[in-house]
Amino acid sequence: MELRGRICVVTGASSGIGRATAERLARRGNTVVAVARREEKLRALVAAIADAAPGSFALAGDVSERGFAERVVAETVARCGRVDVLVHNAATPLHKHALRVSPDEVEATLRTNFLSAVWSTSAALPHMLRAGRGAIVNVSSFAALVVPPREGAYAASKAALCAWSEGLWSDLAGSGIHVALVHPGPIDTEIWEKRQEQSGYRGRRWPARAVADAIVRAVERRQHEVVVPGRNPGLVAARWMRRLAPGLLRFGMGRMDPVPTGVFDEARGRTDPDRR
Ligand SMILES: NC(=O)c1ccc[n+]([C@@H]2O[C@H](COP(=O)([O-])OP(=O)(O)OC[C@H]3O[C@@H](n4cnc5c(N)ncnc54)[C@H](OP(=O)(O)O)[C@@H]3O)[C@@H](O)[C@H]2O)c1
Repeated sequence: MELRGRICVVTGASSGIGRATAERLARRGNTVVAVARREEKLRALVAAIADAAPGSFALAGDVSERGFAERVVAETVARCGRVDVLVHNAATPLHKHALRVSPDEVEATLRTNFLSAVWSTSAALPHMLRAGRGAIVNVSSFAALVVPPREGAYAASKAALCAWSEGLWSDLAGSGIHVALVHPGPIDTEIWEKRQEQSGYRGRRWPARAVADAIVRAVERRQHEVVVPGRNPGLVAARWMRRLAPGLLRFGMGRMDPVPTGVFDEARGRTDPDRR
């Protein structure tokens, strides 16, 4: 699908990869529907892209609420007549040791990072099928491929998105609708400041525009799965180790980010003395 003159919904457009993707799509003459919670940031984005993409608009709300995730599609169709591209990029980090993470945090992460994409996909598919074409880009994470310490719940939300996307590859075969899965590695955005606990990773971070470019390429070239940055020796080695030497990978992860001191004692302290 040539990305020009299309109606493109981008979730998480108020910062980082989402904003870079919205700008990239707008520069190519597509109409952008910018979705996130921080309305003032969305308005600033829409103003910045107004010359290149004059019909673009903001929809402020919380994608972890099913009603809003579905309304994004309904309002786009009502205002633009169709939806051509859905970029599911909004996500929350959950970087916390498994013994400190609460059930509510895990549930909220799954709603934002996984279920929101399912809800808006289900709302958009009938419209895309009627048009006979469409593209859905699900922004996952390298963490879904090789799970770092303290990222179990976050990685699970992204792994669910991967499995859902793979299912769509089969279920939408012959429909004209393309589904792409993009796995960013370490990218320099504000997500790192939102992490609940410190990260053991001290390496390089790539610019958000690298992922925006990959998203555009994945739609235009009908690529199914892309890692950004591609062919990075560190990421390639981690994936091979996961397959061929998982014990070595676990050892390396443990060295990079050892179990925090006192975390087991903290958890033991939460047991009910009456039940001991
Ligand atoms: N940066 C990395 O190293 C990295 C690595 C792997 C994967 N990723 C993935 O790349 C995507 C973009 O992340 P980023 O790095 O660009 O982070 P970011 O700058 O923190 O962007 C996250 C975006 O999601 C929006 N968002 C979060 N919760 C939302 C909710 N409940 N409802 C609506 N919007 C919500 C945020 O906007 P509001 O706060 O305004 O709602 C923001 O626009 C995410 O899927 C992330 O998991 C990033």
